[in-house]
Amino acid sequence: MAAASKSANSKSTLPTSDNTAALHLPKVLKALDQAQDAGVERLFELLRIPSVSTDPAFKAHCDTAAKWCATQLKDIGFAEAKVVPTTGHPMVVAHDRKTIPKGMPHVLFYGHYDVQPPDPLDLWTTPPFEPRIATERGNGKVIIARGAEDNKGQLMTFFEAARAWISTAGELPVAVSVVLEGEEECGSPSLPAFLKTHGKEITADIALVCDTGQWDKDTPAITSQLRGICATELTITAANRDLHSGLYGGAAANPIRVLANIIGSMHDVRGKITVPGFYDGVVNPTAKTLKQWKSLDFDAENFLGKVGLSVPSGEAKYSVIEQVWSRPTLEFNGIAGGYQGAGTKTVIPSQASVKITCRLVPGQKPKAVMEAIEAFVRERLPADCKLEMTGRRGSEAVMFDTETPAIRSAAQALEAEWGKAPIMLALGGSIPIVTDFKEKLGMDSLLIGFGLDDDRIHSPNEKYNLSSYRKGARSWARILAGMAATAR
Ligand code: BES
Ligand code: MN
Repeated sequence: MAAASKSANSKSTLPTSDNTAALHLPKVLKALDQAQDAGVERLFELLRIPSVSTDPAFKAHCDTAAKWCATQLKDIGFAEAKVVPTTGHPMVVAHDRKTIPKGMPHVLFYGHYDVQPPDPLDLWTTPPFEPRIATERGNGKVIIARGAEDNKGQLMTFFEAARAWISTAGELPVAVSVVLEGEEECGSPSLPAFLKTHGKEITADIALVCDTGQWDKDTPAITSQLRGICATELTITAANRDLHSGLYGGAAANPIRVLANIIGSMHDVRGKITVPGFYDGVVNPTAKTLKQWKSLDFDAENFLGKVGLSVPSGEAKYSVIEQVWSRPTLEFNGIAGGYQGAGTKTVIPSQASVKITCRLVPGQKPKAVMEAIEAFVRERLPADCKLEMTGRRGSEAVMFDTETPAIRSAAQALEAEWGKAPIMLALGGSIPIVTDFKEKLGMDSLLIGFGLDDDRIHSPNEKYNLSSYRKGARSWARILAGMAATAR
């Protein structure tokens, strides 16, 4: 006892390994700083693989990206890393050690190797899958490529942290499993079946998800709420073929007009969605949450101004932050019908269609929302018009308790790296797997990402600040050390 009391850690009740993690941390951070250029080169390799998940033409590239990630995890020192086939694009599953010592925390890192299509290609300054470094005012050096942020750059922050831990300390300070998805950007269709077969293998104490953003360039964030999503495509067919608008015009139903009328009545002039039943079950944020959001002093004018807008178009009753974080939406993402080529064509098309997605908030059920939309359209469908509606599995919104030991420990780690406590946020985007982790595996997620609003994710010239990449990796190195010390 007397001898122990002289040790630096004598006041701690933590097991020895926890203290070891803290002792290793400075060396791990130093290793990360030294490996910076190599780390960028590793990310570039992944960025060169055009793993666009939604387009079947890119299938082979998705397989290549999955294999690259598994090889990378092996190289980092994971005991097992494999590519698991699914009915769609494969998943990558890895474990850093063969057996988990009793009492050691176990985390599951999640990321996705698939990316959004790069279109429209002509708006890219340089080709989307030829990553490069550029300098941008206000951001310093940035990495430009499709997936630079979402999600290749973000997932590589964790890989780099794991690499530095294993190369410096010989092992990760907690047990780490990894699951990478290849269909996140197209609604995760193969996920339910994968979770049935591999759910048990990947279940850990908590999932670490690096697919969200910061509050701003200098302020880290932990996201405790994400919106859910459901998607559908409506096709209205009138005549059995395209018609000459001189011969039939006036008498023939025009499906573009029918569709425009119906979708034009789905919102009222104050931005409220008029579809009966759409808002059923909506749970509003608590007064405490609203107060915290208010204290953030969100600059709505600047938020809209930066993308060339000035007037919020959501429900007029709600602040902009509520419109994008805690209110549901019904959006038209694409519309088609009739002649799209150059010049005019005197045609009454036979078909018109629209792609719709809804962002859902806690309490809303994707299936009920889709049914409400279908009923709304059917009720308004005039004679001779047929409706075809294709739907997709949706995912509910998620909300986590912000006062857990894991969040406290991660918050401390982020504060140590950024010199500022993280802000607790909600985000309007969706990460369907997070809902499945909770519903199917009973596992909470810790959503920490290093993205910025101006990263242009899903848009041309997507970028990730070099500093986000570097400090993201350092943050994970610290978070893992902190997790080692989180008593279970
Ligand atoms: N990384 C995003 C999710 C995100 C975006 C979180 C912005 C927070 C802020 C993710 O890759 C994404 O875009 N998800 C899709 C899911 C959809 C296709 C089912 C989304 O939200 O549109
Ligand atoms: Mn993403």
